Amino acid sequence: MDKNFIANQIADIQAKVGNKKVLLGLSGGVDSSVCAALIHKAIGNNLICVFVNHGLLRKGEFEQVQKVFAGQFGMNLIAVDAADRFLDKLVGVTNPEKKRKIIGEEFIRVFEEEAAKLGKIEFLAQGTILPDIIESGTDGKNKLVKSHHNVGGLPADIGFEGIIEPVRDLYKFEVREVGRELGLPDFIVDRQPFPGPGLGVRVIGEITREKLNILRDADFIFREEIEKAGLGTKVWQYFAIINDSMSTGVDATGGRTYEHMIALRAINTHDAVTADWVELPYEVLRAASSRIVKEVKGVNRVVYDITTKPPATIEWE
Ligand code: XMP
Repeated sequence: MDKNFIANQIADIQAKVGNKKVLLGLSGGVDSSVCAALIHKAIGNNLICVFVNHGLLRKGEFEQVQKVFAGQFGMNLIAVDAADRFLDKLVGVTNPEKKRKIIGEEFIRVFEEEAAKLGKIEFLAQGTILPDIIESGTDGKNKLVKSHHNVGGLPADIGFEGIIEPVRDLYKFEVREVGRELGLPDFIVDRQPFPGPGLGVRVIGEITREKLNILRDADFIFREEIEKAGLGTKVWQYFAIINDSMSTGVDATGGRTYEHMIALRAINTHDAVTADWVELPYEVLRAASSRIVKEVKGVNRVVYDITTKPPATIEWE
């Protein structure tokens, strides 16, 4: 990466945009966050960020992202709490691809509605990075590896003059460097990849508010224990999963319980195409498991996923 990358990008964005406006779908992930910080530095409040809560974010995430971008950076941020809209649409849906499709389509609908309220906006910004281009086969050289849509991946034909993709020539580690240089907090810059459909692909079977709440609390504890052990930046992805498999347990008074099982997964990979499970220290697994069954109501069993990719995928759905 050129050492004048930031200065050059700022000059380019200013030259291209002038006094016009730019719209960015902010997810709170590394790529869109770094894009937001970079474009904001170039054009200030002519950048309008839209951040949609699809109800499938991790614990505290909706508030945290607002605090950083609207609070600390003073950005023009529209935070849309559309959780009920998404969750209502997902009632009774169990097929993983159907779930993804509903979430993706609803996301575009919400985003377009918000954009329409804002009047004329000339440019759309996207946090595309180099591996996105390579993996989607659009560089003309590589075969299609996967067609995962980022939920933030919007159709380019919704009436913009141009697209701005300031980090499209960078690898993830370079995007992180830029973010750090722009003063984004570590918890954003070092954030692990999080799928566009969010917890939607980690609630196996029907997505209910009850399962989501249990998953959010369990996932938070697991992440906290990994980070406490200093492993937060050493493990590529680590998260919890909930499914419909209930199991029998026994409570403190000797009574029978029949409750949810939580699975934990931690993987390392270079490119997300193949992956290995991580040999987490037993103390970390023990702490996470005992805290989850103690602190999260409705869970009486915790298991650790020890499967490589392939044959398993990283996400359970
Ligand atoms: P899999 O589960 O296919 O995941 O081994 C590989 C990487 O992609 C992420 N992932 C997604 N990202 N939309 C996304 O934006 C999706 O639908 C999706 N599904 C999986 C996954 O978290 C992992 O990093």
